[in-house]
Amino acid sequence: MESGRGLFDLSGKVALITGSSRGIGRAIAERMAEAGASVVISSRKEDACRAVAEAINERHRDKRALAIAASISDRGSLERMVEQVLQTLGRIDVLVCNAASNPYYGPMAGITDEQFRKILDNNIIANNWLVSMVGPQMRERKNGSVIIVSSIGGLRGSPVIGAYNISKAADMQLARNLAVELGPDNIRVNCIAPGLIKTDFSKALWDNPKTLDFYTRVTPLARIGEPDEIAGAAVFLASPAGSFVTGQTIVVDGGATVTGA
Ligand SMILES: NC(=O)c1ccc[n+]([C@@H]2O[C@H](COP(=O)([O-])OP(=O)(O)OC[C@H]3O[C@@H](n4cnc5c(N)ncnc54)[C@H](OP(=O)(O)O)[C@@H]3O)[C@@H](O)[C@H]2O)c1
Repeated sequence: MESGRGLFDLSGKVALITGSSRGIGRAIAERMAEAGASVVISSRKEDACRAVAEAINERHRDKRALAIAASISDRGSLERMVEQVLQTLGRIDVLVCNAASNPYYGPMAGITDEQFRKILDNNIIANNWLVSMVGPQMRERKNGSVIIVSSIGGLRGSPVIGAYNISKAADMQLARNLAVELGPDNIRVNCIAPGLIKTDFSKALWDNPKTLDFYTRVTPLARIGEPDEIAGAAVFLASPAGSFVTGQTIVVDGGATVTGA
């Protein structure tokens, strides 16, 4: 265990963050770069990734960010991304499975099999693919941190985003299972479960004064969160500060889950 200022230091580490062209993923990438990591910015859109990588490289002149487009729906493109990172940067110490989908709002009775499968594929199975792709070189070095961005939805029932919540609950269990499997090789696997955070993904909720008022009232901190407020938990889990934490879900929600509302 390191002490002093090395506690949150990610110097020399390589972090691959899916869905990092905006929102929570971008904030995690920016803060990991600030903590010293080289970061891989990834989403479906090459241009958006390149813009974020350039902004990070501009701030950290030693060129720390690499942009690679890959869809989490496409196993081949994820494999090519991981291969390219390993060839270019030599290693992946930190994997952040952040990108996710939610193509359906409504009761479970109305969801099509195709919509349900898309949610399970993108939000659970793709995370397992990525871990299986980056895991072997972590195993060789006997060191790695995997962070899955779940949601407090995974701790609750919902009449509107039920399938999404099932996928996010499964992510918490995926982290527990993988923590047991990979722990002997010093690979830690954890989730972060954000509450409502102001991003494009959740715009329908915070853009509507009625729902924003509801979330503000049921959250002890009396506001919704900003993407950057999720990044600290990710840096903690990736860094020496988190070296004895595995199989856990860290809730970052302004207290929303403790109110019972
Ligand atoms: N915002 C919230 O209130 C909230 C709460 C709890 C949990 N979360 C979770 O936080 C994570 C990030 O969400 P966010 O709110 O930051 O969303 P966001 O701002 O909409 O960003 C989503 C990111 O994922 C990328 N992405 C979307 N689909 C993808 C795909 N098929 N393959 C690869 N990349 C893809 C997007 O870029 P492209 O569109 O260019 O691909 C973008 O970079 C998700 O797992 C979400 O479930 C969010």
